[in-house]
Amino acid sequence: MEKQIVINYQEYNSLDELPEAMGLLVREAVEAAASAYAPYSGFHVGAALRLADGSVVRGSNQENAAYPSGLCAERTALFAASAQRADCRDYEALAIVGCNERGELCEASPCGACRQVMAEFEGRQGHAMRVVCYLDGGRVRVFGSVADLLPFSFQF
Ligand code: THU
Repeated sequence: MEKQIVINYQEYNSLDELPEAMGLLVREAVEAAASAYAPYSGFHVGAALRLADGSVVRGSNQENAAYPSGLCAERTALFAASAQRADCRDYEALAIVGCNERGELCEASPCGACRQVMAEFEGRQGHAMRVVCYLDGGRVRVFGSVADLLPFSFQF
């Protein structure tokens, strides 16, 4: 039997069109990109994770000369939040922004490994976490849950 998966997401034409809280989170991700350490790729990524208490934990990509030892912005933010804020492991939304060497914002879409980690964070808390991705041209794509980004994720 053939089956289909439907992926739901929203797109906004600019940051200004986003609901206020989401726009603020994207702006936090832009600021987070400034702390990236990305001398090898030149691609700076910022992530901003909003917790249920309204606080925001930032992450940025941290590279290493031994390439696989580095970490993406999304996982940096998620792991930092889990490690530092064990009192509030409830995550509402994660915004991601890319930034090139000229300082221009660019599209960011989470890699497969980050999606898997995000899926487990979402599974642990038992409710959806929104994922907000900055797109080229200043547009923004919003996924209502990680499950939309990674169907059939590995579960243990
Ligand atoms: N990167 C992220 O931090 N997040 C993404 O969503 C995609 C890629 C990083 C990893 C590496 O430091 C650089 O961007 C180029 O792949």
